[in-house]
Amino acid sequence: MAHLLRERLQPTRTAPATFAGKLPKKHWATLPEADIVPALLREAPSRVRAHAEAAPGDVRALLPPLDAPEAAVRAALRACAACPLHVETTAVPGEGPLGAAIALVGEQPGDAEDRAGRPFVGPAGQVLGATLPRRRPRPRPRSTSPTPSKHFRHRRDGYGKRLHETPDRGHVEVCRPWVVFELQRVRPQVVVALGVTAAHALLGRIVAVGRSRGEVLVRPGGVPLVVGPHPSAVLRAREGSDAVRAHLVATLQQARALAG
Ligand code: URA
Repeated sequence: MAHLLRERLQPTRTAPATFAGKLPKKHWATLPEADIVPALLREAPSRVRAHAEAAPGDVRALLPPLDAPEAAVRAALRACAACPLHVETTAVPGEGPLGAAIALVGEQPGDAEDRAGRPFVGPAGQVLGATLPRRRPRPRPRSTSPTPSKHFRHRRDGYGKRLHETPDRGHVEVCRPWVVFELQRVRPQVVVALGVTAAHALLGRIVAVGRSRGEVLVRPGGVPLVVGPHPSAVLRAREGSDAVRAHLVATLQQARALAG
């Protein structure tokens, strides 16, 4: 049990007050694994630092030249072993033409994307597809979709089903050179951060999706960036899903207007 607790604790999201609220201290004495909680909380900052510092160098050493052919980029990405997620999952590259006007930056591949090796082919991709324009003839593909974390972080439920787990700060830090590289190759006119993970990875700070609605932020290098909800938030919202979908649609419209 203690090792599970160690594996499952997200060192970037330690909130001792919330933890104590959910598992009141009076019960700690009867839970053998509770012994390690103070140590885990103490270690969390150094785990985050170690994870973030250990590998970015490795990823940068793998990056091919910016003008390398797509196949070389895919091969380099497949060879990336900078984080432990590579053992069980596929690194999924962004897809879309170089020179696409808009880059839609997501979070990480999901179960379907991991199996297919392609971005946004699962339920979140269906939501995203339904919000993109359906005019015929279809406009030249204008968007690309890299993720700040290239591998599917997940856990298994009791039946072996793979359940999404949000990548932690360490995973995103390690992977960040990849998304920066992909954006440098595409050179989009506008970047859309779909959800907090993307916004955090691209801006280096936490940005609230709701509060930044309608704002145009700027990425290093001067590229405009807008933040909207991740399409999976529409699926999770249930009752509020119309509002979240409307926010996503408005964000994509804003990006199209900025891209001219
Ligand atoms: N979520 C993402 O951010 N990207 C995908 O490709 C799938 C789900």
